[in-house]
Amino acid sequence: MTGSRWIDPGVGLSYLTQMAKLPIVTLPDPILRQPSAPIERVDAEVLRLADDMLETMYDAPGIGLAAIQVGVPRRLVVLDCAAEGDKPEPRVLINPEILHLGSQLKVYEEGCLSIPDFRVDIERPSELRLRYLDREGKLQEHDAGGLLATAIQHELDHLDGKLIIDFLSRLKRDIVVRKFKKLARQDGPL
Ligand code: NI
Repeated sequence: MTGSRWIDPGVGLSYLTQMAKLPIVTLPDPILRQPSAPIERVDAEVLRLADDMLETMYDAPGIGLAAIQVGVPRRLVVLDCAAEGDKPEPRVLINPEILHLGSQLKVYEEGCLSIPDFRVDIERPSELRLRYLDREGKLQEHDAGGLLATAIQHELDHLDGKLIIDFLSRLKRDIVVRKFKKLARQDGPL
């Protein structure tokens, strides 16, 4: 066959459905402090970004990722808080909003893909009510508890430019930031 303009449908399809791993922005990149803007329309581009973020999160591996962590200042979060070995529970939250926080508090040791090899105990409300748009652009309201409630609060903080080091004293936070600035200098520009 010569001069054919036909594209093998199998190849075309796999190209369209292929997900891509994205580079994760780390401390001290100032974009992590930027507040994210709402998503105006749930379109193919947004869903593609969500899929790429899921792929990036699973590969890292992590249990949550906000769009700002891949350099996109939009209110989009992906999560999977299923226990290890259980069926995956990928979640995509578009323009998520916490409607209500419970009064009980719980401490989890939190890490962040943007702050590698750093963990800190953080006390947060253990239950919440969340409103968000799903992948179909439909408004959803759900209650969450346990690790999922913590992960949601962690990721929503990212959308407002807040990081887990903000729960530390100023002195301890400065030490962590200095360490990451030094590491960034050693690695040089990417
Ligand atoms: Ni994080």
